[in-house]
Amino acid sequence: MTGILSLYRSTIGKKVVMALTGFILTAYVFVHMIGNLKVFAGAEKLNHYAEWLRLDMGYPILASFQGLWITRIVLLVAVGLHVISALQLWAMANAGRAVGYAQKKPSYTVYLGQMMRLGGIAIAFFIGYHLLHLTTGSIHPEFVHGEVYHNVISGFQNTLVSVFYIAALVALGVHILHGTWSMFQTLGLNNRRYDAMWRTVALLVTLAILVGDLSIPVAVLAGWLY
Ligand code: HEM
Repeated sequence: MTGILSLYRSTIGKKVVMALTGFILTAYVFVHMIGNLKVFAGAEKLNHYAEWLRLDMGYPILASFQGLWITRIVLLVAVGLHVISALQLWAMANAGRAVGYAQKKPSYTVYLGQMMRLGGIAIAFFIGYHLLHLTTGSIHPEFVHGEVYHNVISGFQNTLVSVFYIAALVALGVHILHGTWSMFQTLGLNNRRYDAMWRTVALLVTLAILVGDLSIPVAVLAGWLY
C-alpha cells in the first residue's frame, strides 16, 4: 500500500495515472462514437439503442439504470484523477524549474504542455455544455426526453451549435492524438521497433473518433440527416 502511495506521489506515478485514465476516457469516446453513428440507421434504431443503454445495459447481471450509473461513476472518477494528476504534474514541473522563462525561450515541450492544458479546459467546458444539451436538455429548446434522434437532429440544425461541436471535436482530436502518444511513452510501449506502429495506432484511433463524430453535425448541416 505504501509502495503504491509513494509511486502515486512520484512524477512517473502521476503520468501512469494520466495514461490509464486517458485510456479509459478515450475508450469511452470511441465506443460512444460508434453508438452515435446509429443516427444514420434512423430514429427507431438510435432511440432503441439509447433506451438499451439506460435500461438494459448489463442485463441480466445488472438491473435497469445500474450499467448507466456504473459507467457514469467510472467516467467521473477517471476525469477527476486525470485532471488532478495533470494539475499536480504542472505544479511539480513549475516548482522544479530553477529559472523562469525570462532568459530562455520556452521549448517545444512547454508549448505542447500549454496546448494540452488549454485543450483540456476546452474539453471540460464542452462536456459540461454537451450534458446540458443532449442529456438533461436544459439548454436545448426543442429537447424531448427519450427522443434522442429528434434531440440530436434538431440540436445540430442550429448552425452555431454545430460549429461549436465541430470546433470542440477538433480540439478533442488534437488532445487525444498527443495524449495517446504520451501514453505509449509513459507505459514504455514505444521503442525503436514499435515506434511507427504505435504512432499509427494513435493516429487511426483519433481519426476514427474525429471522422465518426464530425460526420453527424456535418450531415445534419448538409441536409442529409433530418
Ligand atoms: C457528434 C458527436 C456527439 C453526439 C451526436 C453525441 C450524442 C450524445 C447523446 C444523444 C447523449 C445523450 C444520450 C441519452 O441521454 O440517452 C450523449 C451523452 C453523453 N455524451 Fe455525447 N455525443 C457526441 C460527442 C461526445 C463527445 C466527444 C464526448 C466526450 C468528450 C461525449 C460524452 C458524452 C457523455 C459523458 C454523455 C453522458 C452519458 C450519460 O448519460 O451518462 N459525447 N451524447
